[in-house]
Amino acid sequence: MRIAMLGSGFIARFYADSLHAQRRVDRIHLVYSRTASNAARFATDYGLSYHTADMREAIQHPETDVVLIALPNHQHMEAVLACADAGKPVLCTKPLGRTAEEAKEMLMAVERAGIFAGYLEDLCYTPKFLKALKSVQSGSLGRILWTKSREAHPGPHSDWFWDKDKSGGGAIIDLGCHCVEIGRNFIGKDIRPLEVMCWADTQVHPIDAEDHAIGLVRYANGAIGQFEVSWTFRGGMDLRDEVMGTEGTVWLNSFLRTGFEMFTTGNGGGYVAEKAESDSGWLFPVGDEAHELGYPHMFTDMFDAMEQGREPLETFYDGYVVNAILDAAFASAASKRWEPVNLEIWRGKEEEEGQAGFLVYDDEHYLIKREILPNGDHKLILKHRKTGQISQTVTQS
Ligand SMILES: NC(=O)c1ccc[n+]([C@@H]2O[C@H](COP(=O)([O-])OP(=O)(O)OC[C@H]3O[C@@H](n4cnc5c(N)ncnc54)[C@H](O)[C@@H]3O)[C@@H](O)[C@H]2O)c1
Repeated sequence: MRIAMLGSGFIARFYADSLHAQRRVDRIHLVYSRTASNAARFATDYGLSYHTADMREAIQHPETDVVLIALPNHQHMEAVLACADAGKPVLCTKPLGRTAEEAKEMLMAVERAGIFAGYLEDLCYTPKFLKALKSVQSGSLGRILWTKSREAHPGPHSDWFWDKDKSGGGAIIDLGCHCVEIGRNFIGKDIRPLEVMCWADTQVHPIDAEDHAIGLVRYANGAIGQFEVSWTFRGGMDLRDEVMGTEGTVWLNSFLRTGFEMFTTGNGGGYVAEKAESDSGWLFPVGDEAHELGYPHMFTDMFDAMEQGREPLETFYDGYVVNAILDAAFASAASKRWEPVNLEIWRGKEEEEGQAGFLVYDDEHYLIKREILPNGDHKLILKHRKTGQISQTVTQS
């Protein structure tokens, strides 16, 4: 594939490093940046044939097979609509929109145009995540009851993130989009998110948006997806997920603890890892950041999907659902109540609310708990299915 990169900032470079690494065959051939000198610098750094300060020229270029949007949030819609107009396949970074309304417009535009569209949600492609998801989907954890996803760091690296009009919000939109989609994947994308309860505040920075938030997303099958997002966390970038099911548990630590710890007096200095705050003392470097953050697997899925005529794992529809959940989170943070997730387009199950059944022990009882005590005794706690009486039996060791 010949890729047109829109944007030449932080994520554009991460994407380019991933795309041009390990002798991959899909190459960026062109970069658009609104500042010509930035476009030229990016083109030189990555050995590109063309650079331009005209976005439509980049999209419509006859050699462009696919467009990669790495622009600030308020630029996503214009870029997606231009790709739809030009009939060019498009990959868009997260969040898809600033609101579900924007995301819906982008979704409708690409579907009307009949073009391939992929949602670049890298944290749903990390090697750890993909393996954990496979275990969840094969039933290793039983019925999923609760997921928790946390992304916290000291705040983003460009002015526009901090401007609510351009970004669409603070930590909720910037980091919550990752956490919500991680939870949705584990709980099941076909399970409808019903409502959100969210606390948000601006604890540290002089901005209109929130710099810290915690939310709960309640799903139609009774599962809860928790997200914790912050631009106030000190000490690097904290990316952790937990999944709890009736048959098991998964804990993932994707960045601050990857099994690489290093001490240095600071002699040498330099870059350690994304959002690392120090280059001396005990450090937690990351071996191959792009890989740990999921970019290579993400692009492989996107390009394979394009060639095979199938949907990628993360679609514009997913981006739209995420935006709808985040809209409800903002509404809840303001109202301090549970707020409904308004999904005008729902393509999952239309199931009744409520949890699946209890564990049956025998014809008369449900099983509540089985445990071996410190003295070796076996304890069984049961509930009578008709009377509701709770009883226990102890078998001595
Ligand atoms: N893990 C991830 O997937 C991840 C990580 C970081 C950023 N992002 C997303 O990538 C996008 C870009 O973020 P970034 O970190 O690269 O930001 P950045 O500020 O580093 O880079 C943004 C780029 O867009 C250009 N730009 C800024 N305003 C523009 C405008 N009005 N018109 C045209 N171009 C403009 C800048 O010059 C720069 O080239 C955002 O949507 C962000 O949420 C995703």
